[in-house]
Amino acid sequence: MPVVDLDKIPQVPLAFVNDDHREEARLLNELADAVRGHRDGRVAVGTVIHRLEALFDHTREHFAREEDAMRRTGFPPYPMHKAEHDRVLEDMESEAQHFRETGDTARLWSYVADAVPSWFVAHIQSMDHVTAGFVAARGG
Ligand SMILES: [Fe+2]
Repeated sequence: MPVVDLDKIPQVPLAFVNDDHREEARLLNELADAVRGHRDGRVAVGTVIHRLEALFDHTREHFAREEDAMRRTGFPPYPMHKAEHDRVLEDMESEAQHFRETGDTARLWSYVADAVPSWFVAHIQSMDHVTAGFVAARGG
């Protein structure tokens, strides 16, 4: 079972942001599958680390695309949205580092199956929704 249902991701009025969210969810589901498999002894630790890196890389690029659109259109609460992105990237990096150092699968599972999906949906419904509306009204 996926941790995020691709068909239930809240949509915002900006296509590139929806595309990024779909890819983010796809990578998160792949990571969750690897963590579950690793916990059951079927998947190597290297696969988990590789998928963590793939998720981190995409998250950084996806946030940068949103931030670029906010700067281009002069979105006033840009610093608040950017600070939230920075906090999430720092968390993701520190969870990945903790897993590389300790191999703590239970903690990583709670991060990928609970913390990230909850944050993801709430963030889309609040900051991304408002941002996409503002950017779309200014022609993207
Ligand atoms: Fe965002």
